[in-house]
Amino acid sequence: MPGSSTVLVTGGAGFIGSHTCVELLDHGHDVVIVDNYSNSSPGAVERIAKVAGRAPVAVYEADLLDRRALAAVFADHSFDAVIHFAARKAVGESVEQPVEYYDTNVGGTTALLRAMHDHGVHRLVFSSSCSVYGNADKVPLTEGDPADPTNPYATSKWLCEQIVADVCRRLPGFSALALRYFNPVGAHPSGLLGEVPRGVPNNVMPYLAQVAAGRLDRLRVFGDDHATPDGTGVRDYLHVMDVAEGHRVALEHLDDTRGMTVFNLGTGRGTSVLELVAAFRRACGKPIPYEITGRRPGDVAALVADPTAVTRAWNWTATRDLTAMAEDAWRFQELNPSGYPD
Ligand code: NAD
Ligand code: WQD
Repeated sequence: MPGSSTVLVTGGAGFIGSHTCVELLDHGHDVVIVDNYSNSSPGAVERIAKVAGRAPVAVYEADLLDRRALAAVFADHSFDAVIHFAARKAVGESVEQPVEYYDTNVGGTTALLRAMHDHGVHRLVFSSSCSVYGNADKVPLTEGDPADPTNPYATSKWLCEQIVADVCRRLPGFSALALRYFNPVGAHPSGLLGEVPRGVPNNVMPYLAQVAAGRLDRLRVFGDDHATPDGTGVRDYLHVMDVAEGHRVALEHLDDTRGMTVFNLGTGRGTSVLELVAAFRRACGKPIPYEITGRRPGDVAALVADPTAVTRAWNWTATRDLTAMAEDAWRFQELNPSGYPD
């Protein structure tokens, strides 16, 4: 889809969505956001406009499950494509609240497909996740490796992939890209946009940022007895701006193939928790207190992407390194100690 287009971004006020909106606006696309602010705030939308120098065309505070509200959004605009970020994403919470996760993530996706179909919009980029691979017994992972989701969050993403793929198969006008992100971290280099977790962060990077800021006393490193070089968990961290660029490029490739295509978005490089701590210490110039504790239930030793397929297809690669991820995350933390203003 070369040239400028009008893109509906669900979950556009969230971590990855907000960075993607800036990337789209910076490249001349028009953006419409739908978000219910269940894990974000209107402050993020103000920052999108500030960073990009222009605002989204429209922002709707609406729940994807509110089919009437969603239909009204589609009636108001003529979309060239949809990027679907809106979902619940906390793995631990999904184990406690499976119905809520299936309702929001699967139900939200089918409600969106309904609205797209009703309004003749047939091009979708879907946020999938490396979590669909489950307990991978080898790395790096290619898209052809078997899925084995091990919790309701991951299962919801896997189910959505199946549903979107089937819709594309049955309705030949539909095309979709499912992007399986590995571990997006970091922030916009301006320090104005970043990740604003609610409560104590689940994920290691925002947790590290809050330890460095003195809001949390120390990082608990979940196990040093994994089968990895230093015993701590290895992940494929990638900069959120690389993820955002990946979505902008994806829009240009939605028509390359019929049906749904799955791509990993990762760097292909694994980093251990202790290596991440060291990178963050260099970025913030302060010691990071940590202690080794037991493994977190359900954690796998190593998850690393093989990003060859997406590089071959689109010439996209992640270009920002661990230093940039840590420095940008730290800048955002320092400039916005309490997140976005209300
Ligand atoms: P996020 O929570 O920051 O953003 C999701 C946004 O969707 C939030 O603004 C939230 O308010 C909104 N939302 C949730 N339910 C909604 C609903 N029913 N109706 C309307 N809006 C709703 O999460 P994120 O990290 O930006 O993740 C974006 C997507 O990427 C998600 O689908 C997530 O599963 C996927 N993903 C994230 C990661 C990660 O590590 N962050 C990794 C792989 C995949
Ligand atoms: C990374 C590493 C932990 C916190 C999650 C989701 C996955 C995907 C990406 C959405 C692991 C260790 C963590 C802490 C630690 N998201 N750790 N102390 O679990 O790889 O992936 O985000 O799709 O579905 O599960 O990310 O940041 O939680 O953990 O030692 O306080 O850091 O054990 O090795 P994870 P994470």
